[in-house]
Formats: sequence, C-alpha cells, structure tokens
Amino acid sequence: MATILVTGGAGYIGSHTVIELVKAGYEPIIFDNFSNAKPAVLARIKQICGRSVPFYAGDIRVYEQLAQVFKNHKIDGVIHFAGLKAVGESVKKPLEYYDVNVNGSRVLLQVMSDFGCKNFIFSSSATVYGEPDAVPLTEDSPVKRANCPYGQTKVDVEYMAQELQIAHPEFSITLLRYFNPVGAHESGLIGEDPRGIPNNLMPYLTQVAVGRLECLSIFGNDYPTPDGTCIRDYIHVVDLAVGHVAALKHCLDNAGVHIYNLGTGNGYSVLDMVKAFSKAIGRELPHKFAPRRAGDVVSCYADPAKAKNELGWVATHTLDDMTRDAYNWQKNNPNGYED
Ligand code: NAD
Ligand code: UD1
Repeated sequence: MATILVTGGAGYIGSHTVIELVKAGYEPIIFDNFSNAKPAVLARIKQICGRSVPFYAGDIRVYEQLAQVFKNHKIDGVIHFAGLKAVGESVKKPLEYYDVNVNGSRVLLQVMSDFGCKNFIFSSSATVYGEPDAVPLTEDSPVKRANCPYGQTKVDVEYMAQELQIAHPEFSITLLRYFNPVGAHESGLIGEDPRGIPNNLMPYLTQVAVGRLECLSIFGNDYPTPDGTCIRDYIHVVDLAVGHVAALKHCLDNAGVHIYNLGTGNGYSVLDMVKAFSKAIGRELPHKFAPRRAGDVVSCYADPAKAKNELGWVATHTLDDMTRDAYNWQKNNPNGYED
C-alpha cells in the first residue's frame, strides 16, 4: 500500500487523518515540529491504531529535514497540513505566516519535485472565497483576495501549486477547501487542543461546558440571517479525515488539478450551535451577545456535490455527533494533551 507523508500530522486534523489512513491500509509517516501540537498525541494515535506510526521531528521550511524522509522512504504522496492558522496572530505576524505557510509549502514542493513525488494534497480553506456573493459555495465560486494574511497564504499556495502543475503536468494537485472542522475522534483520545483562549467557536463552547471558561460571547446578533447570528458549515473532523482518504485515492490515480469543498452543505447559526451544545450537556450553556467580530462573513456553507460525484465522499456525522464528540474529548481531557 502507498506510503504517505503527512506534514502537520500531529495536529488536530492531521492526527485524525493519520488514523483514517491506517484504517484504509495506507502507510502514513508524520512530519511535525510540534509548534502547535504535543508529542503525547503520538501515543494516543498508537493506542487507537494498535500500532505506532513512523514520526519525524522537523520543520517544513528546512529542505534537508524533509529530504531525509524522502531518502529513507519511497513516498507516494503527501498530505500537507503543516502551517499556522490563527487569523488574529497572522495580522500581527504576517511575515511568519508567509514564511511557514507559503515558503514552507514551496520547500516541500521542491523536495517532492527533486525526489519524483508528484501527488500533493493541500489543506486549503473556505476562507479563499472571502465574503461569498452567493451560498452555497461551489468550487467555481470566485476566489478572492483574503482579508487577513492567514487567508491570503491559502490563496497563494493554491496558485503556487496550480502553477507548478501547469509547468509539470505529471503532478497531481488536490486542493481541499475545508469549511468549519469541529468534533473529535469518538474514542475521546484525540481532539482539538488550542493554545490559550480559543478563537474558534467549538473549542470555546467546550471549554465553557467544562467550566474552564465562564460564558460564550456571541459575536453579533444583528446579521441578516433568520436569528441574527452568523451561519457556517460545521463538519465533523472524522468526516473531514475520511474525505482526505477519498481524495488521496483519486489523487494517486489522476494527474491534474483537483479542487473540492469539504463541507456538509448544511448551514447552522451560532445560536443553533449553542442549542445543540446545550442539548449535549443537558443544561443551558452560558452565553451572551457581544459586538460583531471584525472580518466575519455573514453566511458560508458548501455545495459538496463535486466531492460526492467525483470522490464518492459525503459527510455522515450529524450536528449531535459533532457536539457529543467535542464534549467527550474535552471532558476526558479538560486540559487537552498534558505531557
Ligand atoms: P493544527 O495547528 O492543529 O495542525 C498544524 C500542525 O502543523 C501542528 O501540529 C503544528 O505543530 C504543525 N506545524 C506548524 N508549523 C510547522 C512547520 N513549520 N513545520 C512542521 N510542522 C509544522 O491545525 P489544524 O486545525 O489541524 O489545521 C491543519 C491545516 O488545515 C492547516 O494548514 C490549517 O490552516 C488548515 N485549515 C484548518 C481549519 C480549521 O478550522 N482547523 C480550516 C481550514 C483550513
Ligand atoms: C475562522 C476564521 C477563518 C478560519 C477558520 C478556521 C475569522 C474571521 N475567520 O472562521 O479564516 O479559516 O476560523 O480556523 O477568524 N463566534 C462567536 N463567539 C466566539 C467564537 C466564534 O460568536 O467566541 C462565532 C463567529 O463570529 C462565527 C462563528 O462563531 O460567526 C464561527 O467562528 P469560528 O469558529 O472562529 O470560525 P470562522 O469565523 O468561520
């Protein structure tokens, strides 16, 4: 079975994907510098998979560190999760974001090219669509200049990879545009473990639920939506991980550029999420309304038909599954991964 390098494989989405790769019979190799992960995740992955997964500590910006993996293994494809992802931090540290996300991806593609590895799957984001002109978003919806450095690095890497494919048509480039990944593995052993106070909705909700934070602030209740709060397409991280396995099979067999939305097609408001979460914990989750957050789009959800038609993939987890598993992870690990 194919050997797959998973950069950022110790992170939130990467760790769940490694598990689905093992389940599907692939040989993943994790490459991560732990800038936003803890080594403890490796033992958890081993516990779930029943065997250890090879691991390299390294930085994607360092050619030799990546090349070492390609010298030691015949790598059939790369799933590239490694990168920085905090919107607010990216505004304060734009050069660091371009260095890790864009330059790091460039170094990785160079190493792949030098070692004859042509199959590349990239973690892009629905953020490339900016403020949508219309929802649901299809892959043909316009890609816009992003309103923050993080978002722009996703746009830039999408273009860089596509331009490489034009120059070298034997490359198979898959760009996966994730909507809002949430939830955790049903074992409760792995999940999202953000540093500091979470910026994203779901980890904030889970930390309020376990009493680590007091109250959720809902950013804005005067948006032009049915209940006045913003709408997103929340997708269970295990569905997302399974989507990568489906995309990988396709990527390994088809040169070209392939772009897919990975979402459920359902739009839920912030208040819908609070209600679902309150149901999961059996009491009302403390929440209050607060001013709008700068940069938020009103409504963003996917048309996932292309991934269904071409990859045979659909998200199967419900909103109740997402809240149950997110809560289960947080309850079992109130302080995340502790080393
Ligand atoms: P994460 O931070 O949990 O995972 C990223 C991993 O990359 C971490 O383990 C980190 O230690 C590692 N890493 C960072 N810089 C590195 C470097 N220079 N060299 C090697 N490893 C490095 O994030 P995630 O939520 O799992 O996201 C994975 C990818 O998906 C990212 O590229 C992110 O931008 C993208 N994405 C995430 C979301 C989301 O909501 N989580 C949405 C859309 C896209
Ligand atoms: C955010 C980023 C986006 C990134 C994505 C994944 C912004 C503006 N956008 O998307 O670029 O790709 O995360 O990391 O940061 N909310 C609250 N209270 C909170 C937290 C969130 O009301 O404490 C609301 C937000 O206003 C939004 C919704 O919940 O309406 C979802 O927020 P979040 O989880 O941060 O995701 P996005 O804004 O979609």
